[in-house]
Amino acid sequence: MNTPICDFCEGYRKAHVSRLHMPGHKGQFFLGFEDLDITEVSGADELYAPEGIIAQSEKNATALFGSGRTLYSTEGSSQCIRAMVKLGLTLSKPAGRGKILAARNAHKAFLYACALVDAEIVWLYPQSGMDLCSCPVTPQALREAIAAHRPDAVYITSPDYLGQLADVAGMAKVCHEAGIPLLVDNAHGAYLHWYNRQHPMDLGADLCCDSAHKTLPVLTGGAYLHLSPTANAAIGAEAKAAMELFGSTSPSYLILQSLDRCNAYLGNGFSEDLNCCARRIAALRKRIPDVSQEPVKVTLDCHCLGYTGPEAAAALRSCLCEPEFVDSRYVVCMFSPQNQEADYIRLEQAIAALPHKEPLCALPSAVTPSPAVMTPRQAIFSSHETIPVTQALGRICGSPTVSCPPAIPITVSGEIITAEAVALYQKYGIHTVSVVKR
Ligand SMILES: Cc1ncc(COP(=O)(O)O)c(C=O)c1O
Repeated sequence: MNTPICDFCEGYRKAHVSRLHMPGHKGQFFLGFEDLDITEVSGADELYAPEGIIAQSEKNATALFGSGRTLYSTEGSSQCIRAMVKLGLTLSKPAGRGKILAARNAHKAFLYACALVDAEIVWLYPQSGMDLCSCPVTPQALREAIAAHRPDAVYITSPDYLGQLADVAGMAKVCHEAGIPLLVDNAHGAYLHWYNRQHPMDLGADLCCDSAHKTLPVLTGGAYLHLSPTANAAIGAEAKAAMELFGSTSPSYLILQSLDRCNAYLGNGFSEDLNCCARRIAALRKRIPDVSQEPVKVTLDCHCLGYTGPEAAAALRSCLCEPEFVDSRYVVCMFSPQNQEADYIRLEQAIAALPHKEPLCALPSAVTPSPAVMTPRQAIFSSHETIPVTQALGRICGSPTVSCPPAIPITVSGEIITAEAVALYQKYGIHTVSVVKR
């Protein structure tokens, strides 16, 4: 597979031209890679109107993922989610305020997207009292919710932060029977196309975003927006404009090169390396209490070992293992083919070294519906103040006040903060919240 963006930047670096253009470092080393960091100079193409090297590289990505069309983002899945919500609603509701049915474990980027395009959100709650991070919904439950609410689009997150996978194929079928698109936040699952074709686009999603940087060897910020062949036919012409609407006018060429270079690896070698990694995790899984359904993510249920998440994470850190995410019960460790054997051994040894304790009981951590008195748009764009969680009961949530990870709102902007939400904030170690000013 060719790498036109990398080739162009390498040629530009070697040509030693006088850089009478941005960026201000002029190719001189401050961090050490500035000579490859260019802007839209002649021949470098434009991300939002590509005709040359970027168009060619995106075509390569489209072929690799087998999508109808794949677009690059240099601003993460966050940018793609905003574009996806706009495009998804355009697909089935070209005018007027769109209504979107969304699983409640959505990342806050989804809430911001809905605020920006003023979409109405109807939340799907988990059927069993699961975790803030997970929202298992069956196709049958989705069918009933669609019949009850008549949304213009459906939005789910799969894989979720804990590594749970939704029945994307079942949900896509239900959506298509209802004539509406399925939008999937696949930020954690770019690699899934190379694992038994389990990527949402393989399973029937209409639009989907992947954070390439989360699971592939891509610089932070690199992401994809995928359109299915049918979605591409209907909204392909608007896709770049939707990405541009929510992006910077100065996309990073370092990130574009990283996405371009990744194509060559995805086309040659990645599949074999991924399968080795998955086999190594499967072996590890036999010896540790892991609840992840993802092949290369480990979600330790620390309560089974008699520990809280922070206690287990401290033990891991003392063995030089830095996890991705920790909450009161779980520690999430993300692996990729680029991890080394020492990483697997360290994790296993750190867990094996934990003194045996009686299992702990889990405290409830599911989100419960809260009454909404403002739309997310009204609440997010109003004036806010930050107050202690202990004084927040009955106030209207302003901004979601959840850091990353997992960045899933405990209370949605515009909803009343309930006693259950206050308890959940405290459980997640959140001491202050942003509320709408009175
Ligand atoms: C489920 C989910 N969706 C979306 C995002 C946003 O992705 P990005 O950081 O690539 O903008 C994240 C980030 O952690 C995430 O976990």
